[in-house]
Order: sequence, then C-alpha cells, then structure tokens
Amino acid sequence: MDITFLLNGESVSIEDVAPMATLLDWLRETRGLTGTKEGCNEGDCGACTVMVSDENGVRALNACILLLPQVQGKAIRTVEGITAPDGTLHPVQEAMVAHHGSQCGFCTPGFIASMAVAHCNGTDDYNTALAGNLCRCTGYAPIMRAAEAAKSAPVPNWLHDELPADLPAQPAAGDMTGNVVLPTSSEDLATWYEAHPDATLIAGATDVGLWITKQLREIENAAFLHLCTDMQHIVETDRSLRIGAGVRIADLIAVMDRLHPSFGTMLRRYGSAQVRGAATIGGNIANGSPIGDGPPPLIALGARLHLRKGDARRDIALEDFFLDYGKQDRAAGEFVEAISIPKQADRLKVYKLSKRFDQDISALCGAFNITVTGSTVTAARIAFGGMAGTPKRANAAEAALIGAPWSDSTIRAAMAAIADDYTPMSDMRASGRYRIGTAQNMLLRYWQEDQGLSAPLAEVTA
Ligand SMILES: Cc1cc2nc3c(=O)[nH]c(=O)nc-3n(C[C@H](O)[C@H](O)[C@H](O)COP(=O)(O)OP(=O)(O)OC[C@H]3O[C@@H](n4cnc5c(N)ncnc54)[C@H](O)[C@@H]3O)c2cc1C
Ligand code: FES
Ligand code: FES
Repeated sequence: MDITFLLNGESVSIEDVAPMATLLDWLRETRGLTGTKEGCNEGDCGACTVMVSDENGVRALNACILLLPQVQGKAIRTVEGITAPDGTLHPVQEAMVAHHGSQCGFCTPGFIASMAVAHCNGTDDYNTALAGNLCRCTGYAPIMRAAEAAKSAPVPNWLHDELPADLPAQPAAGDMTGNVVLPTSSEDLATWYEAHPDATLIAGATDVGLWITKQLREIENAAFLHLCTDMQHIVETDRSLRIGAGVRIADLIAVMDRLHPSFGTMLRRYGSAQVRGAATIGGNIANGSPIGDGPPPLIALGARLHLRKGDARRDIALEDFFLDYGKQDRAAGEFVEAISIPKQADRLKVYKLSKRFDQDISALCGAFNITVTGSTVTAARIAFGGMAGTPKRANAAEAALIGAPWSDSTIRAAMAAIADDYTPMSDMRASGRYRIGTAQNMLLRYWQEDQGLSAPLAEVTA
C-alpha cells in the first residue's frame, strides 16, 4: 500500500507502507522529527499530539495511536511545522514563552499542537480543548494564560487554508486487493469483508491502536474504514436520526446538543478532544465494552442498530446486540453500518461517573428517559454501563416506574428495584456496592432535576 500526505507543508509519499506502524514511530524514527513526544503510547497524555487537516477541518490527534494508512490524503503539522519555515514562532508558541508555560518541556509540543488547533478553530474553551494534554511540572495556569493571550492573533499565513487538495489522487484508496485495504464505500467494504471475515476492521483506532502499542498484537488482515464517507453522515428526518457508524464522537456532539443536550454534555467528557476527533460511534458500539459511553444513552433513546453482511441487512434493538461480556450478536463478515434513534421529545438525562472529570473511562454511566403524561409515568427506558458485563437496561426499575404516579415514593421504589436489576462487580474503578448506590442516586437526581433542583456537572469542575 502506498500513501501520500502533506507533512509540515511538503508532500510525502511512502511506498509499501507498514500498515500497522504508528505515525508517532514513523515521525520520530524515520523522519527524525523528535519534537513530537511519546509519553503513554495509549492516547492518554497528549504528548504526541499533532495537527491534522482535511476537507472536514483541523483536528488535534494523538500520533501514538494513529496508523499510517489513516493519514492518507491529510495534512499533518508537527511542532516543527507549527513554527514557520524561517523559524518564526506561532502565536501560541510566543505566548507560551512569554507566560512561562513550559518547565521541563516534555509535554510542550503536544500542548502547542492542541493550542494551535484551538487557535485555528477559534475555540476559547481551553478546559475542553486541552483536557487531553497532561503536564506534570509547569501547572496548567500559565498554559491557559498563554492560550488566552494568543487568542486574538491571526492564524499565521503558513497555516492558512492548508488542505490536501494539491495531493495526487489517493493512490491507496479503493484498491481492494491485498491483505490490508482502504475501501471508499460501504459497498466495497461489505463485499470485501464478507470474503475476509477474519479481518480486523479499523475505524478511529482508539481501541485497535492500543492492541498494537500495548498488547503488541500482529494484525495481518484489515480494512481501514475512514474513507467510507457514506458511513459518516447523520441523516435527520421528522421521524428519526440515522447516524452512520463512521460518525466521529466529536461530530455527534453538535447534533446531540440540539436534540438531547444532556447527551452532548456527557460526550464532552468522552476521552479528550484528540480521542473524540478519531473515535467513531460504530467502534464504540462494536467493541462491546461494558463501559462504553455511547450505548447507555442510545439504548435509553430506543436506538436500533443496522448491521450488514454482503448485501444482507438486518436491524436489531441496540440492547439486543450485547449478548454477554465480550460477545455480541454480530456474524463473521458482518459490520455495523449505522444506528438510528426515533425523534422524540427530550426527556433524556445522562450521568457519567468517573474518578477524574476529564479523559477518564466511566466507573458507571447511567441514561434515563422517562415520559410522564399528566402525573403518571407512561414510558421509561433506563440503561447503564459499568453495572454488568454489557451495557444493560434496568428492567425492574422501569417496571416499577411505568404506570405509577410521578412521585418521590415511586422513585424510591424504582431505586430499590435497581438492586434487583444488577449485581455489579468491584474493580479498580469502583466497588459493587458503590456502583449500586450511585446508580440509585442517579435516578434520584433525575427526579430532583425534573422537580427543578438542578445539579449541572460543569459546576463541580472548579
Ligand atoms: C485515551 C482514551 C480515552 C477513551 N475514553 C473513552 C471514554 O471516555 N468513553 C468511551 O466510551 N470510550 C473511550 N475510549 C475508548 C474508545 O475511544 C472507544 O471505544 C471508541 O469509540 C472506539 O471507536 P474507534 O472508531 O476508535 O474504534 P476502533 O478502535 O477502530 O475499533 C474498535 C472495535 O470496533 C470494531 N469496529 C469499528 N468499526 C466497526 C464497524 N463499523 N462495524 C463493526 N466493527 C467495527 C473494530 O474492529 C474493533 O474491534 C477511550 C480510548 C482512549 C484511547
Ligand atoms: S504518547 Fe500519550 S497520548 Fe500519545
Ligand atoms: S513542562 Fe514538564 S510535563 Fe509539562
């Protein structure tokens, strides 16, 4: 497989690319661009952050879990290329110097890349934009001050309008021969995957990347999905919202902010900007994780999953996809094509509980969608992640609610029923007892917020 992309403004072609090599290793070991650092090598620290531009805009991504085929047709800027060719500093670099934003300097190139992306996109929510970058010695205040100080400076001309339009036609894309392929449509993917059912599908690689860097797994057969643009659309009608499996978490936020704002708020705590810019909703469902943050709210909204194998398509309720820990209702050669949720009045609340506010996997994630007509509960869908071996509905709690008056005593009965619904395990994130107690309290919180007692998550960050 050959790939072509822009690196710090120059076109680069790699013939016969090692498809499972990370961009970080290639930058450091092959190009000698050692400004980009390796901290954790698992997407957690942001030391390896680079700027990535394409026709969809500019994103910060973690190079340590970005595989080389994923940069095909993109423009990459490392810290060396965020500086101008003549050595002129980018405004965020100047501001970091002026505000003493760097002490040992190990985290600094990653911060510079994230800050340059925020600057380019006109983002001034630095808490969110920089949550995926860890600094162990300077402290965050000078870094935040630097980002703020650079805000009004214009985007430097060497970064302006950098889109990979000048690149030659994508040489690797669409070539469906070989063990590792880059399909450009779900049609091509369906045909190839049916014939290669043992292959690994790679979407954002925020899970698969770690199989490579941490578990040292060899992946010989794979299809990269990021060029299947027909799987990256969100189609909204009066009746439903259909979300392609390739829609990134970052792109889901805007639509959820509008339709189900609590879902959008929770998604801002999903990984970091770097993770949300790569991770797809299809990957988040297909990996079958019991602590994935996408499934609980989607199940609470009554989502259906659209699966495809060759020309055969079927759809199932999302909760039925998760059969057991590590086991999903997906046949060999079958993939997630999309997910759809019915349009409905917004009654959804999603509560994510994790040890850290930002960039942390959930201890549990609860999603509540309760409809009250007059003073009676007429429908209830409640789902949790982190309470069982799969994302799972709270059937007993739902039964305690439906048909009952919308009252404190009904809520107390439903809270008690949650203990019948789940027997959660104890692990490093939380004990089983804590999980039950906090799951029950999330339902109480839903009730109290509905009564006008608000406890927005963002208020506890200070
Ligand atoms: C630092 C970090 C923080 C994270 N934080 C969170 C978090 O807060 N909340 C959370 O829920 N997750 C989190 N994750 C996990 C990860 O981001 C998600 O599970 C993500 O959504 C996976 O999507 P992806 O596109 O990257 O999948 P990939 O890594 O590409 O694939 C994941 C799995 O899904 C399969 N797959 C992908 N697409 C399809 C498809 N269309 N059909 C069938 N199979 C498919 C792959 O074969 C693989 O088995 C985090 C990960 C990292 C590295
Ligand atoms: S090295 Fe830590 S996120 Fe990449
Ligand atoms: S300056 Fe040392 S880790 Fe940030």
